Amino acid sequence: MTLNDYLNKALKEGWAVAHFNISDAVTLAGICEAAKELGAPLMIGTSEGERKFIGSAQARVMINAYRDEYKLPIFLNADHHKSVSKAQEAVDADYDSIHIDLSVAKLEENIKGTKEVVAYVKSKNKDISVEGEVGYLVTESSKIYKEIIEIPPESLTKPEEAARFVQETGVDRFAPAVGNLHGIAANVKKLDIARIEAIRSLIGDTTMVLHGGSGTPDEQIKNAIEAGINNIHINTELRVAYADALRKFLNENPEETTPYKMFAPVIEAIKQKTAEKLKLFGSVNRI
Ligand code: G3H
Ligand code: ZN
Repeated sequence: MTLNDYLNKALKEGWAVAHFNISDAVTLAGICEAAKELGAPLMIGTSEGERKFIGSAQARVMINAYRDEYKLPIFLNADHHKSVSKAQEAVDADYDSIHIDLSVAKLEENIKGTKEVVAYVKSKNKDISVEGEVGYLVTESSKIYKEIIEIPPESLTKPEEAARFVQETGVDRFAPAVGNLHGIAANVKKLDIARIEAIRSLIGDTTMVLHGGSGTPDEQIKNAIEAGINNIHINTELRVAYADALRKFLNENPEETTPYKMFAPVIEAIKQKTAEKLKLFGSVNRI
């Protein structure tokens, strides 16, 4: 099954494919261990920065190794690629999925660039899934904001614009701004469920992605899936679990120098957090 097959299955069955970001082998190990135990399909994402750090070829080879060894459907996504050329670079590096994020541009420009990426991708391999985004998120992934973040109403996705974008670009997945935020803010996230429903009613069978999943109350995640979300991104919560576990270990074992010893509790922490999300998203036993 291709990634689009899994996303369509999630749409039909009312659950969400989990997407986790990585920039190293330690995080990937923890995520894959949880998915293997729970029988969950996975999307692994690297933003432009994460891809540069880990290396495109290195990410590809590691994903392939887990696919073979764990017999898991794992798909590699070029997350938040912010230019047509960067998106094309990821296609050429054999990514399974491309997220072209031109959401800060005017709608016309966004449609034009996204269409270009869709055409490039589909000329290379029809199975590569493409995501586009309209409406913008005002914060950055992985930041823990001490302040309350207000969401400007003009940043939210207008359902008619979503419908037009999906129809004109032919993307496989659509990412809206519906009260979601990257990172964790001082205020609790509050998703606009009615807006998700309105967009869902206008975009037919196009699958829909929720970015900024970290720190969103479980009840809201469940409501969002029910309203039409089929794919959820988590980054910050894994990074916090990683850093906390490593800090704790090094504080308790200041003399330790062996990487596989100091990263063992990190992998365990990532595994636990991943398992929690896979259960919440309903992706257990969906292979
Ligand atoms: O694309 C990445 C995500 O949207 C992650 O957001 O860091 O709030 O979980 P998050
Ligand atoms: Zn995101």
